[in-house]
Amino acid sequence: MAAVRAVDEVRDGMLVGLGTGSTAAYAVKSLSERIKHGLRITAVATSQATEALALRLAVPLVPFQQLSAVDLTIDGADEIDDRFQAIKGGGGALLREKITESASTRVIIIADSSKLVAQLGKFPLPVEVVPFATEFVRARLSALGARVTVREAGGTPFLTDQGNYILDAALDEIPRPREIAAAITTIPGVLEHGLFLDEIDTIMIARGDMVEVRHRGEA
Ligand code: A5P
Repeated sequence: MAAVRAVDEVRDGMLVGLGTGSTAAYAVKSLSERIKHGLRITAVATSQATEALALRLAVPLVPFQQLSAVDLTIDGADEIDDRFQAIKGGGGALLREKITESASTRVIIIADSSKLVAQLGKFPLPVEVVPFATEFVRARLSALGARVTVREAGGTPFLTDQGNYILDAALDEIPRPREIAAAITTIPGVLEHGLFLDEIDTIMIARGDMVEVRHRGEA
């Protein structure tokens, strides 16, 4: 429901950023339905998985590397608070998501109400690292108070679309996300972290049979 509501905001001629994950996949499907009914857009995908889904559903794609701006990106989140701050990267696509969402005029996060939290941090914070720096970054994240695990898939380190690793940094609570974000960003070998603090403009939360819509800056 939140995905359908978000896709209602797409207009002819837009360049649309497609998020990654099970919730964002509903938005790709809904967009595909609108395209079948005459909507004319182009899209960029934030992951190889979303790219494959969009191709299967005949959503016209352009490569992001040829672009510097996107009109509207619709994506999911692992946690979001009422200050429009989110943790993302549970699906491992945080780097491309961060780039695409930073380039977007507008970002809509779609989620069910279980993703809305009073404080970020129960969900371990994903951090994408250059494999060479894995143990060094793990030690630095531990010094910040995190319990750190190298994300695995089938017994070997999970590889991102860029060929990097993900460290999941369990902090339990993140009362001052800007401080943690700044500290992590300065660790050599870190490519990106999953704290999205300024990118999100609108959140659409499905609750029962309603979709609650909130805009940044509104009371
Ligand atoms: C992908 O890397 C993530 O940022 C997803 O947006 C997030 O994990 C939400 O995924 P689900 O919609 O599958 O919960």
